[in-house]
Amino acid sequence: MTRCMRIFGAYSYRLTRRHSTILLLVSFIVTITIILQLYAYRHQDQPHTQPRVGDFDYRPGTFLRGIQPNDSVSYCDFNYGLPDKLTWGSFPTHPSPETGSKSPYRVVYDAVRGRAYRKDGKYDAVTYATQATAEFLYHIVEIARYWDGPISLSVFVPDYDLDICMQIMTQLCHCYPDMAKVSLHLFFPKKYPPKLRSREQWLVPSTDVLTTTANMTLMMKNRIESYRKLDNKTRAEYIQWVRKRKIERMMMGFPKKPIQAPTLKFEDCSGPDSFEIPTYRKEYNMIYPINVGRNVARNASRTNYFIVSDIEMVPSDGLAPKFLAMIKKLMGAKKRREGCQFTKTIFVVPLFEVERGEEIPRDKETLVRMVAANRAMYFHQKVCSHCQRFPGLQSWLLRPAPKVVEPMLIARREYPYHRWEPLYFGTHKEPWYSEVLSWEGRQDKMTQMLELCLQKYKLYILDGGFLCHAAPHQKKDLLTPAQCAIRRWAVFSNLYQYSISMLNFSKKYKRILELIKKSGSRSCDLVFRY
Ligand SMILES: *[C@@H]1O[C@H](CO)[C@@H](O)[C@H](O)[C@H]1NC(C)=O
Ligand SMILES: *[C@@H]1O[C@H](CO)[C@@H](O)[C@H](O)[C@H]1NC(C)=O
Ligand SMILES: *[C@@H]1O[C@H](CO)[C@@H](O)[C@H](O)[C@H]1NC(C)=O
Ligand SMILES: *[C@@H]1O[C@H](CO)[C@@H](O)[C@H](O)[C@H]1NC(C)=O
Ligand SMILES: *[C@@H]1O[C@H](CO)[C@@H](O)[C@H](O)[C@H]1NC(C)=O
Repeated sequence: MTRCMRIFGAYSYRLTRRHSTILLLVSFIVTITIILQLYAYRHQDQPHTQPRVGDFDYRPGTFLRGIQPNDSVSYCDFNYGLPDKLTWGSFPTHPSPETGSKSPYRVVYDAVRGRAYRKDGKYDAVTYATQATAEFLYHIVEIARYWDGPISLSVFVPDYDLDICMQIMTQLCHCYPDMAKVSLHLFFPKKYPPKLRSREQWLVPSTDVLTTTANMTLMMKNRIESYRKLDNKTRAEYIQWVRKRKIERMMMGFPKKPIQAPTLKFEDCSGPDSFEIPTYRKEYNMIYPINVGRNVARNASRTNYFIVSDIEMVPSDGLAPKFLAMIKKLMGAKKRREGCQFTKTIFVVPLFEVERGEEIPRDKETLVRMVAANRAMYFHQKVCSHCQRFPGLQSWLLRPAPKVVEPMLIARREYPYHRWEPLYFGTHKEPWYSEVLSWEGRQDKMTQMLELCLQKYKLYILDGGFLCHAAPHQKKDLLTPAQCAIRRWAVFSNLYQYSISMLNFSKKYKRILELIKKSGSRSCDLVFRY
């Protein structure tokens, strides 16, 4: 079987270079097969597991329970009239970093400018760069708690999602001193600029009943009920109709009803009563352009080194200062001051997740104990076993925990790690994330990883630090039929964009590909294997 795959691989690789159209065709066939499989998968019934004693759903900000916001102090410096209003004209809007002015998205940098670490030089701090939609924004408080450095956060704020974003930021900025580390940037579709309610509108009671969990579930159930009631024929017609309008909807959703932002209720500093917030993005079925967010957060990072992470990834103790100490040691203080960087080198941080009912571990010793007891595992082991398993995982776990962060081994992204999408410390020299890939379409970091490989990057795997994700929520998001259709389309779209990029790469990196072929190595596989 593997031999067969290898022959197929080698053969299609040759095709790649001679007949790009054939490659495209093959990708299409592969893509359609995948779509059909995903379709079948979605329509299987998922088994329901009973919650066990000790289970709890992780909520960011739980450590602030019982603490009330202090209205007379704010730990954040808001700009442009925020958080009360957005004064258009008082700030420049920028195009998105990779696509430039052709991009359907626009960016407003520094809606909040972080106070902490502002005086530190580029080389004396390392930035945590991340992105979020409004409903995930509260996670930033956990990052602010554990990251000893500046945080660059971009938030997707189409229409009234800015309102939600500002409600959360206002609360957090009166609650938690370490919010002073956070710089906030906004990005949104050009067609749906961010909106804020004025003072008068705030006085009118809004649709806050919608924010209760019970109601949301009820609404979803109703929608699914009515979908079930359709007979076979009308259902097929409905799916047809959904597909036909997918492209328009990707960009703008379909305005059904004008809704106002929900008013979030905060009992104390530990977050809104429910995190199931009906954002504009969700209500209007917008695709989340995650890589625009990543590029924005990264561009706004003022330090030499930064890590582009996902907001739910909580760093282990002292990750930032330990990383800086490592760079200092590897490079020597003098070179560092002169602005030297390691060329074509990134520093990969291992990713883990814990089981339900477990706290996120703070150090490697605890983590390794939890892995041994099956209470933690490498990230996404269950959903996508090859996405995050990293070279040297077993020896990483076996090595005694060092007090410092240090490189463990140098890896390359080659078989069987050809689908590896690591998070890493990098610099502004790396290629941008591809902004045509969406979060819903999955594997959104793939083109960047492939390009790093083609540029012969070295991937240092770090020991002594990690990022860890809480257990995923038990209650799966109930997707409406429209959302399911959009997801399927998004997967298709990402794969399509990926094959376009492969064609581009096969021209741009022709030389390197020829060399790789001659050497018989299996790195930088241009054939997309799902
Ligand atoms: C709020 O902050 C002010 C200024 O730091 C302080 O004087 C006051 O005691 C605080 N109030 C509460 C309730 O903590
Ligand atoms: C990065 O951000 C700055 C503003 O902070 C902006 O002037 C510049 O154009 C941005 N770069 C890209 C590539 O978007
Ligand atoms: C939402 O819940 C409240 C009370 O929990 C109820 O009065 C209201 O009718 C519900 N709204 C909808 C749309 O179900
Ligand atoms: C729909 O099709 C299934 C099998 O394909 C059949 O069992 C069911 O009776 C059909 N329902 C209607 C309403 O036609
Ligand atoms: C491929 O290359 C062409 C021309 O260089 C460029 O216009 C296009 O945006 C590229 N596409 C992708 C997905 O990189």
